[in-house]
Amino acid sequence: MEYYKAKYQTLEDLPGVGPATATKLKEIGFRTVEAVATAAIRELVSAGIGETTAEKVISAARKSMAITFVRGDELVELRSNIRRLSTGCASLDRLLGGGIETQSITEFYGEFGTGKSQICQQLCLTAQLPVEQGGLDGGALYIDTENTFRPERIMQIAPRFNLDPDEVLKKIIFAEAYTSHHQVVLLENSDEVIKENDIRLIIVDSVTSHFRSEYLGREMLAPRQQELNKHLHKLIRLSRSFNTAVVVTNQVMAQPDAFFAKMVKPVGGHVMGHTSHTRVFLRKGRNNLRIAKLVVSPFLPEGETPLRITERGVEGDDDI
Ligand SMILES: Nc1ncnc2c1ncn2[C@@H]1O[C@H](COP(=O)(O)OP(=O)(O)OP(=O)(O)O)[C@@H](O)[C@H]1O
Ligand SMILES: [Mg+2]
Repeated sequence: MEYYKAKYQTLEDLPGVGPATATKLKEIGFRTVEAVATAAIRELVSAGIGETTAEKVISAARKSMAITFVRGDELVELRSNIRRLSTGCASLDRLLGGGIETQSITEFYGEFGTGKSQICQQLCLTAQLPVEQGGLDGGALYIDTENTFRPERIMQIAPRFNLDPDEVLKKIIFAEAYTSHHQVVLLENSDEVIKENDIRLIIVDSVTSHFRSEYLGREMLAPRQQELNKHLHKLIRLSRSFNTAVVVTNQVMAQPDAFFAKMVKPVGGHVMGHTSHTRVFLRKGRNNLRIAKLVVSPFLPEGETPLRITERGVEGDDDI
């Protein structure tokens, strides 16, 4: 059931946008309603669009992005379709209030080697489990931007979940994205693949790396955020249309104004912050432990739990 439907689908649907304005918008890189919603008035003015029109168009695009009106009781019914995907680690599931939710984005961020990709690969297995065992009884779509997906690793972990190593890879659809544009296009065209393969989990590992390495310099920040925002909203729409879980990974950068040298923050700024509904920060602890910390959740308190990466995958204290 889809309840996240933008009011305006194309640029031309926006009040005040005729063919000439639509062309101007496209020329400066605003091709969708989602993109216009992130625009600044002066950007449109600089492309020859009048200030009043610019203001009106941006405001309509922003309103369009909001969830269409539903009654409270309908919302409860729609939300009752939300499923929870077990991570395979009981303690991490508890931290997440029962697992990873469908219909929204869950972000794992942290430094290199903290276990982001390991968790993603394990989720490709738990997603295949029956619902009674915490799974979603479906397949996974894995978009890899860093070439770190390892089918052998998935096969190695499979027995822990009583899954047949020779069967599990058949339920994982994999694509490597070579550029941010490629990553966007892959997702834009994924509806059919999701439907045909009964995909219940979408992974983008990592969601920001291409954007970060391609859009360099201050003047590229706005276009980068715009594209990233569009990409993340596509993910949200997919999650709601197909009732899938969406898991993305993200890197961190040093916090320039931090008092402590080791303080880091996730890449992607407020765009990433506003679209990831649940954010988990992973860091390295003593004795090769990893610590998962729930940083943002719409309904759960902050908290943290230790994890270990072993031959059996990612394990919490009570999984061993
Ligand atoms: N079979 C295994 N047994 C034990 N540990 C493993 C195994 N495979 C991978 N690891 C450990 O997992 C860690 C790498 O985790 P992962 O690749 O998930 O990091 P990441 O957070 O995705 O990092 P990056 O930011 O570089 O992508 C390494 O410390 C590695 O030793
Ligand atoms: Mg990784």
